[in-house]
Amino acid sequence: MNSVQEVPFRVSARTARLIGRENVATAESAISELVKNSYDADASFCIVRISPAYDHVPAQLPKREYDLLTDWGLAPENHYDLNDDFATLRPCLGDKHSPEAKLIQNFVTVTVTDDGSGMGDDAIRDAWMVIGTANKEQDSSSKMGRTRTGAKGIGRFALDRLGAKCQLHSSSTDENDRTETLTWTVDWSKFEKDGAVLDEVTATIELGAPGFSNAIESIRKVPSLESFAKSAEDKRSGTSIHISEVRDHWSPERLCCTNPIMRGFTT
Ligand SMILES: Nc1ncnc2c1ncn2[C@@H]1O[C@H](COP(=O)(O)OP(=O)(O)OP(=O)(O)O)[C@@H](O)[C@H]1O
Ligand SMILES: [Mg+2]
Repeated sequence: MNSVQEVPFRVSARTARLIGRENVATAESAISELVKNSYDADASFCIVRISPAYDHVPAQLPKREYDLLTDWGLAPENHYDLNDDFATLRPCLGDKHSPEAKLIQNFVTVTVTDDGSGMGDDAIRDAWMVIGTANKEQDSSSKMGRTRTGAKGIGRFALDRLGAKCQLHSSSTDENDRTETLTWTVDWSKFEKDGAVLDEVTATIELGAPGFSNAIESIRKVPSLESFAKSAEDKRSGTSIHISEVRDHWSPERLCCTNPIMRGFTT
C-alpha cells in the first residue's frame, strides 16, 4: 500500500514582500498606509517627519549610498573617491553650506508617530506579525467609533517600500492600566535571501525599551509640536515608526510637494 501524507504549503519570503509592494506603488502611498493605521488606532494625531540621516558630512560613505547618489544623478564622484566597499571624502570644508553637505542632505530617515492605542507584546505577535491578519475585518469600528480604513492585513509592508531598516517603538496600557513599552526591529533585506521561507524570517522585540518616550521627547523639542507630545504623554500610549536606509530620493522639491505632512485627526 502506498503511503499518503499531508504536505503543507510554504510561502517564500519574497512572495510576502511582493504582495505588500503591489499594494503600495509609491513612497507617498506607503506613508499614507501608516497614517491610516494611526487613524484606525484612535490616534488624535499622526506626525510624519522626514529628517536628515546625517548631521555632518561623513568621511566615508558605504558603497550602497554612493550608488544611490549616482542613481539620483547627483555626481558623488565630485566629492568622494570610490574604493571597494566605501567611498572616501576628499579634503573639504564640509560646513553646512558646502556642496558636500548639500549632497549628504539627500539621505533622510522617515518617522511616523501617533498617540493611538499602541501595541503590546501580544498585539505585535498576534496582529502585527501575522500577515493578512483579519482583526479589523472582524471588528470594523474602533473603540472611539471610527470606521477602520484597513482590512487586508498587509499595510505594514509599506515599511519595506520606504526603507531597508525599520524600528517600531510602542507604548500601550493593559487591562490593569499598566504601561507596556517595546521596540520591534526588522531588517527587510532578510526577506531577500535566496530560498528564504517566510516563517524562517525573524524580527526582534525588546520589551521595556524606552524608544517611544525618546520619540516623544524629540517631538517636544519642536515648538509647534509640543501639544502633541503632551497628548501622547497623557495617554501613555502610541506608536513611533522609524525607517532608515530609505529607498527613495526625497529631494527638497519632492519634500515641498509632500507637505503638509502633519495631520490632526477628527473622529
Ligand atoms: N499605528 C498603529 N497603532 C496601533 N496598532 C497598529 C498600528 N499600525 C498597525 N497596527 C496593528 O497592526 C495590524 C497590521 O497593520 P496593517 O496595516 O498591516 O494591516 P491592516 O491595517 O489590518 O489592514 P490593511 O492592509 O488594509 O492596512 C493592524 O491591524 C493593527 O492591529
Ligand atoms: Mg493598515
